[in-house]
Parts: sequence; structure tokens; C-alpha cells
Amino acid sequence: MLWPLLDQMNPDASTLSLASTEVDIAPIEEGQAITVMWRGKPIFIRHRTAKEIEEAKDVKLDKLIDPLARNANLPDDAPATDANRAASEREPWLVMIGICTHLGCIPKGQAVGDYKGEFGGWFCPCHGSQYDTAGRIRIGPAPQNMYIPPYAFSSDTKIKIG
Ligand code: FES
Repeated sequence: MLWPLLDQMNPDASTLSLASTEVDIAPIEEGQAITVMWRGKPIFIRHRTAKEIEEAKDVKLDKLIDPLARNANLPDDAPATDANRAASEREPWLVMIGICTHLGCIPKGQAVGDYKGEFGGWFCPCHGSQYDTAGRIRIGPAPQNMYIPPYAFSSDTKIKIG
């Protein structure tokens, strides 16, 4: 009778497991995306195609609604270039908090058959915000690009978020 009680009284393991999450990205093929949870938030991880990367790079910064990268791994004033949005030195990978910056809905665009909006990224059906293939807001009421969480590659195929 004592063990379950003692177990519940030890919060460390569960608290620690929420602080960071390690994700194996090896199974994610080019053109695919997965969603994992980190600190109660959905994290979108997309393995971008060459076309998606090219489209994101072609966008002039003055066309962006939000000019900032919103990347927790970079200074606050870093511009929203594709290089500042994608994983450092691994441009096919985009890792971001999958929450629309308007009112907090979870945008569509993770599943292969999802409508991804006219910029090929994500579409938020709540009020029509559309994000490009770097997760930058391009049309609609959302004021900011989707946020990039703190993360790093712990190996070629593993990402540690948080
Ligand atoms: S919450 Fe996404 S457009 Fe309103």
C-alpha cells in the first residue's frame, strides 16, 4: 500500500520529462511532417522538400508581415530569413511551435493530404491565417510568425527540444 503513495509523492521524474523532449527524426521522409508534444504544446517538425526550401528562400523580407525570425535559438532581433527559421546547417528541417499566433488554434498542414494554404506551409482554418514553408505568416490576422522553440540536434537523427 505504501509504494503507490510514495510514487505519487515524487514529482521529479514527470517534471523533468516535460522540460525537454528528444525526438528521433530518422523515419521522417522528405515531404513528411510529424507533431510531438513539448511542455503541453504541439511541435511541428517538417522535413522540407527542395521546392519548399527554394520557395521560402525566394521571399523578399519586405513581403513579410512579421520581419522577425521568432527563433528562441537566435537573438530577438534576428530577421525572418529562411536560414534563421530553419535548423542551423540543416535547412531541410523546420521545427516550430504549431500554434497560430492569432488566437492559438493549431493550423492544418502537417498531414500529407491537408490543405496547406496558398504558400504551401500551414493554413489556420479558424480565421484564415496562412503560413509559408518557413512557418512565416503571409496572409490573415495572425500578427507573428510561428515560434521556433529552443532545440538542438543531439545527433544526425535526433533533436532535443527544450
Ligand atoms: S487562430 Fe489562427 S487565424 Fe485565428
